[in-house]
Formats: sequence, structure tokens, C-alpha cells
Amino acid sequence: MSETQVPIAIGIDVGGSGIKGAAVDVTTGRLAGTRLRVPTPQPSTPEACIAVITRMVKRIVKELPAAAGAPAGVGIPSVVVRGHTKSAANIDAGWIDFDADRAFEKALKRDVWLVNDADAAGEAEMRFGVGVGRKGTVILLTLGTGVGSAIYVDGRLVPNTELGHMEIGGRDAERRSSSAARTRRGLSWKAWAEDLDEHLLAINKLFSPDLFILGGGVSKRTDSFVPRLTVPVEIVPAALRNEAGIVGAALIAAERAGWRVADMPGVADMPGEAEVPGEGEAQGEGEAQGEGDMPGEAEAQGEGEAQGEAEAQAEGEAQGEAEAQGWDPLP
Ligand code: BGC
Repeated sequence: MSETQVPIAIGIDVGGSGIKGAAVDVTTGRLAGTRLRVPTPQPSTPEACIAVITRMVKRIVKELPAAAGAPAGVGIPSVVVRGHTKSAANIDAGWIDFDADRAFEKALKRDVWLVNDADAAGEAEMRFGVGVGRKGTVILLTLGTGVGSAIYVDGRLVPNTELGHMEIGGRDAERRSSSAARTRRGLSWKAWAEDLDEHLLAINKLFSPDLFILGGGVSKRTDSFVPRLTVPVEIVPAALRNEAGIVGAALIAAERAGWRVADMPGVADMPGEAEVPGEGEAQGEGEAQGEGDMPGEAEAQGEGEAQGEAEAQAEGEAQGEAEAQGWDPLP
């Protein structure tokens, strides 16, 4: 890309309770525009999620025209192989064996890459967060509706690991160690820390990591449970918290689009008029008006309010908290 192009990519994070998105300056990992959030449609079918994300991307571009041709990354709670989503633990089963990259590219009229949500968060933490410069085996776990994992060996990702689904006591580990499990079962931090500890000990037995990074909404409450963990491994809370999924998805999109992110000047360093790589391709952005009036949106928001408290709290992104942190729901 030329010196005057803006290094902005769009990052979307599909969670069990909310879909979040923003334009991201991929050279700094900072958001370049407003963070948007809508409750995840129920059922969370590919069609319903793609419709919400299409409106979200239009909204992002409307606010930040420089993002018009930007590639998009979408983090999703699924194994993603060659653009196809292969599993669906906390989203609708319609995502299993779904040709997701293609469906998104058609809807968003730009290059889109799907990626496992925890892998996206891992990418952000390794590039801009607490994983910077960390060698050896680093395991990031996102503690939310489920438990996602991203394993790095000397800074390189081993994609699509699913440590949340390790079997402990004959059940998926995430059934007890996720943040949703704590609220669903009404556990104290102390009681839940024991379950999480059991999961971490089992992971340590198999992988002997040098570092655990704990992400997800609970990463801002680490004082409540990290001191109670006995696993003999360094543990640090994720630095990017709720933004990691968005930032990492955008970063992955930029890299897959062939941008040499590490060599690019940041938005702050840009001279006056800048253009986004790929801008000028047909975007259909003229339709980006009146999203808030769309019936689908209103229904989606209504459902969000009615959803189980456990799940909403799980991601630390329940509506109230999200707003307090500056998330902007779509109108
Ligand atoms: C899914 C993973 C996902 C994690 C966190 C798990 O249930 O299987 O793919 O990364 O939840 O969302």
C-alpha cells in the first residue's frame, strides 16, 4: 500500500450475547471509530447474524468513510477452516459446515475473513497487549459464554484449538469454567475459581505453558479469582479486554489482505488526504441509511434485554456494562 493509504480494517466479534464491531487502526490496535454493539439475534442463524453485521458495517462506514473499502475480519465462536465454520457450541447449528467467507463477502461487498473468536483475541493480545514479545508456549483463554483458547508457540498461533471442550469429569470443561457457568450456577468467585483452577491444571498437564492470559469480561475482575488459583504457571489478565476480539479480527483481515502491518504508518502519522486500500470497489454504501428503523434490529434489541442474565453477564458485556464502557448500540 502507498504512504497515503489509511491502515484501517473492520473488526467484528460475534459473541453469545452480543455482536460488536468497529473500525480499527491496525498499526496501533486502537479503534478508529465508535464501537457498536447489538444483541446477538436469537436464533443466531448465519442469515440473522449476517443481516445484523451488514447493518453494522454500513454504520461503521457511514461514520468513517475512510473504511469504505476496508477488509473485514469476523471472529466467531466456531472452528473456522478455509473460510468454512465447522462447529457451533454457543451459536446456531446452521453455522456448521457453512461457507461463511463467501456469504459474508457477498453481503458486505468486500474481502472478509472469518476466524475463531479466541484466535482473534489472541492475535490482538500478542500484537498489542500482554503477549507482546512473549516466547515459549502462551495460552490465552477467553472466559465468556463458553471458554475459547488460542495457543501461541514462540509467537505463532496454532489455530482452532478448543480447550473449552476438553473433557473434565465426563463433561465439557467450559460447562464449569466459563464465566457464564459462574453466573448460571450462582457461584461465589471462590467456588468458581476452584472449577477454573481444575481446568487450568488439566491444560497445564497437557501443554506446560509458560504463560496463561485470561480474557473475556471477567478479565477486569481478576483480583476476585486469580489469587485463588493454584496452577503453577504465570497468569496475567488480558489487556485489551472486550476490544480484543474486534482488534484481532481486524488485524487478521489486514494481514490476509496482504498488508504489511508492521511496516505501515499509523493513522496519526498520515499526511492530510488518505485513502483506504481497495477503496473505489463497488461498496453499495448509498444504502447505508435508516438502519435504526429496520424491524429486524428492533426485535434483536428486544431479545437482548430479555436474555438470561447469566449469559449476558458472562461476556461482561451485558447491556448496562457495555454502555458504561462506551459501547454504542445500533439505533
Ligand atoms: C467454542 C469456541 C469459542 C469459545 C469462546 C466455545 O464454546 O467452541 O470455538 O472460541 O466458545 O467463544
